[in-house]
Amino acid sequence: MIQKNFEGMETPFYYYDLGLLRETLNAINAATADRPNFKVHYAVKACATPAVIETIANAGLGADCVSGGEIETVYNHGFAPEKIVFAGVGKADWEIKKALEIGISMFNVESLPELEVINEIAGEMGVTANVAFRINPNVDAHTHAKITTGLNENKFGLAMVDMIPAIRKAEELANVQFVGLHFHIGSQITEFFPFEALCERINELTAELEAEGIHVKNLNVGGGLGIDYQNPDGNPIPDFQGYFDTFKRCLNLADDQNLHFELGRAVVAQCGNLIAKVLYVKEGHQKKFVIVDAGMTDLVRPAMYGSYHQIDNLTAQGEATETYDVVGPICESSDVFVKDYTMPATKRGDLIAFRSAGAYGEIMASQYNCRRLPGNIAE
Ligand code: LLP
Repeated sequence: MIQKNFEGMETPFYYYDLGLLRETLNAINAATADRPNFKVHYAVKACATPAVIETIANAGLGADCVSGGEIETVYNHGFAPEKIVFAGVGKADWEIKKALEIGISMFNVESLPELEVINEIAGEMGVTANVAFRINPNVDAHTHAKITTGLNENKFGLAMVDMIPAIRKAEELANVQFVGLHFHIGSQITEFFPFEALCERINELTAELEAEGIHVKNLNVGGGLGIDYQNPDGNPIPDFQGYFDTFKRCLNLADDQNLHFELGRAVVAQCGNLIAKVLYVKEGHQKKFVIVDAGMTDLVRPAMYGSYHQIDNLTAQGEATETYDVVGPICESSDVFVKDYTMPATKRGDLIAFRSAGAYGEIMASQYNCRRLPGNIAE
């Protein structure tokens, strides 16, 4: 339960607990301290609120960016260019230029036409671009269909059979240098066996490459470690030890090879909460509705993926005795946070916290219905 007094503050807003974020970052650093060649990057797409990314930069993590806007944001908030990686299936020319100007460490390339464009732009600018290829490992992440990315049917990456021709192509081009392979199988993965399967696949692929005389300097296994949405107070910090141990145990890594991770959700989800105010409690004929001043424009995950976020009434912290549908004010029937939710008797003016909302919460907010974007506080 959040122990803070938000009375008098304008709602809705995101509240980030930077103390919990620091503890989470310490747990990541502790779990990788024995492996200097493990490079943990933060997937900025999960949350780019300045105080949050500055805290992450201070802990020494790198940044995984998927747009020119993200690159500019992290560069302006303390990430060194040599710790920035640029991924994404559709990089625009201006984004590639921006990345080369800033001098990021590498591009994760997802197609041959993209490789050629990067080579061309790097040539015009008189620089060499480091490139890693994103390979689609066809590993099932066993997670929500909309956030599974490593299967052959997805739009991401190159197929495994195209890997060697792509590397040979990069070797021929004058302004790019092949430096690594990139993989990502999906998000909100709560068991380790999909990561074990990924390691096995990577071991096979790197053996195939070694046989061709190709030594890969950087392997990037993406992100995807899940969090406990059901019990944010019981499990505020994911099992980083178990996660990193899986890679220590299962991946064949040479001493001169770096292993990159790009974790988003596991870093920031639990430290963020959406705080809203109850506008009305409406007694319908079949149901009771708690109507709050935050909607799917502020936190789209329940409407978009059917995701669950624990809801705490911060004002009435008694026994949970009533059952409500908790809904927002947007003119869409999907603007429902949860149905048949049991919580303490709730009244107009109560403050409500949507928990575990730090990842893919504020950053996915929209202005639909001409609403204001939610504010934020971080402390
Ligand atoms: N690397 C790549 C290439 C990715 O596509 C993603 C997430 C990550 C890393 C970070 O994954 P994470 O560690 O956060 O699982 N909006 C959805 C999640 C979309 C994830 C997209 N890619 C949600 O709210 O659940």
